[in-house]
Amino acid sequence: MGGKKALREEVVRRFPLSYEKYIEVFGGGGWVLFHKPPGNDFEVYNDRNSLLSNLFRCVRDKPDLLINALKYVLNSREDFDRARLALRRRRSTDIQRAAWFYQVIRQSYAAALTSFASQPHDLWRDFPLIWKAHRRLADVVVENQDFETLIRHYDGPATFFYCDPPYHTTEGYYQNIGEDGFKERDHIRLRNALLSMEGKFLLSYNDDVFIRDLYDEPGIQIEPVTRLNNIRQRYDPNCQFSELLIANYDMAERGRATAQFDLFEMEREF
Ligand SMILES: C[S@@+](CC[C@H](N)C(=O)[O-])C[C@H]1O[C@@H](n2cnc3c(N)ncnc32)[C@H](O)[C@@H]1O
Repeated sequence: MGGKKALREEVVRRFPLSYEKYIEVFGGGGWVLFHKPPGNDFEVYNDRNSLLSNLFRCVRDKPDLLINALKYVLNSREDFDRARLALRRRRSTDIQRAAWFYQVIRQSYAAALTSFASQPHDLWRDFPLIWKAHRRLADVVVENQDFETLIRHYDGPATFFYCDPPYHTTEGYYQNIGEDGFKERDHIRLRNALLSMEGKFLLSYNDDVFIRDLYDEPGIQIEPVTRLNNIRQRYDPNCQFSELLIANYDMAERGRATAQFDLFEMEREF
């Protein structure tokens, strides 16, 4: 929920020009991490939801075992309900939990984990993608921390944090399997952690008065951007959703550097 598929290019384009550590604080489905080119930076994926961090760890470390566990999954309502219930009730191995979770994400309506989507989906088609994700994650550290502990742990002048917290006023969506919900006090806690850090941060939020007020501080840039609405897009292809990108550095620096580089290339050609 709240995946940055439609906004990932806009987000990556605003990354700072240089940093040594990249920390994705609210990793979720990892849309931004998977879009960002791997470089020489030290990368961390974090999510407080242990089902997500466990899935990412299993994809990174044991993709063959995960694929084996997914081979005989049925695309049926009964199998979906059984996996969903098992995630809540049963203790099991990391691989089995990752497989149940993957099945429930793939087979639920809008990947919301709640109801069976009744769509044909052959999990075997995903196996090459799991291997690809395994290769991309090979050098990524996977964490399962609350954002405040994580930020304190990795903060430093050369650290860059990308933060995509649960949207303000939609926190209820996150009280799903394995999640505790994100309250008003957590939005304030996040602001305090970000405004007192040594490193750089880029934050994405829904466009909302409370959030605009919270970050109305000297040295903080707030830029509104629009994107297609992931879910409503099915019914209305032009439905736009307004978001905020907030940073404690100049978000245009990369764009300016690229423009200068293009000019330099053009001058060389003539
Ligand atoms: C908007 S989603 C991130 C989506 C992600 N950027 C993507 O594109 O897929 C927010 C994520 O924050 C996680 N989360 C909620 N509370 C958290 C906390 N206290 N610390 C760290 N992560 C948390 C949720 O589990 C959820 O996956």
